[in-house]
Amino acid sequence: MGTIAFSNVSKIYGGTGGVQALAEVDFHIGEGEFVALLGPSGCGKSTLLNILAGFEGATGGDVRFDGGGVTKPGPDRGVVFQEASLLPWLNVWDNVVFGPKVQGIAKPVYEERARRILDIVGLSQFTEALPVQLSGGMRQRVGIARALVMEPRALLMDEPFGALDAQTRLSMQELLLDVWQKLKTTVLFVTHDIDEAILLADRVCVMKARPGRISRDIPITLPRPRSIDTLTDPAFVGFKAEIMAEMRGAHH
Ligand SMILES: Nc1ncnc2c1ncn2[C@@H]1O[C@H](COP(=O)(O)OP(=O)(O)OP(=O)(O)O)[C@@H](O)[C@H]1O
Ligand SMILES: [Mg+2]
Repeated sequence: MGTIAFSNVSKIYGGTGGVQALAEVDFHIGEGEFVALLGPSGCGKSTLLNILAGFEGATGGDVRFDGGGVTKPGPDRGVVFQEASLLPWLNVWDNVVFGPKVQGIAKPVYEERARRILDIVGLSQFTEALPVQLSGGMRQRVGIARALVMEPRALLMDEPFGALDAQTRLSMQELLLDVWQKLKTTVLFVTHDIDEAILLADRVCVMKARPGRISRDIPITLPRPRSIDTLTDPAFVGFKAEIMAEMRGAHH
């Protein structure tokens, strides 16, 4: 459940002579694994995620989710972007149950799920609030709740905490670790923050640009559960040095 497999995937925007966003990407994520994609702007991170989400097609190669070919978006893959695209006229509760309603899930089922998920992301007290009344971090938690309420087999996150201040970002990272520990959903997490990638992931895949490809796949063997304290673990610093060295070579 939640396995992801890219085989020899390429993506060219704009036809022949266009931008080669991805070249020969071979990439596998196992059930329940947390993988971070790290790399400089323009190296193809969002392209890879969007292909898996079914928002765009690959130019070549094969993309599989739980063994099936990916052709379009689906509730089995929950997507979270930098800005939670909440419906501004609906309160938190209605935003969270919107997806399951549209999918025709039975009311008692989605209500129970929504209550549980809102509790996990710490928003039980804010079900009546409108998006405009929430902080950026709270809006992002609603965005995560909206994805999780569909019980996706994988969570695809594209710089989900990129717009948050450092303090909120840390608490959201801890929240995500907690959620993942509880639900064991497969996570593909795009970031260009090295600390964030190491803190969260089982593996950090470093990408390089022109053409976009995965240059290193580094298992992060730090013990779990992890927390802010992990950031000062000597082993953490070791991983950081290794990844920085790899990224410094990213332009050559
Ligand atoms: N819709 C598009 N049309 C044309 N070119 C595109 C399109 N989307 C992305 N590209 C190009 O593909 C390459 C990879 O873009 P992508 O958005 O995947 O990078 P990224 O790693 O997510 O960067 P960032 O960290 O800035 O979000 C870039 O050169 C970009 O200009
Ligand atoms: Mg991007």
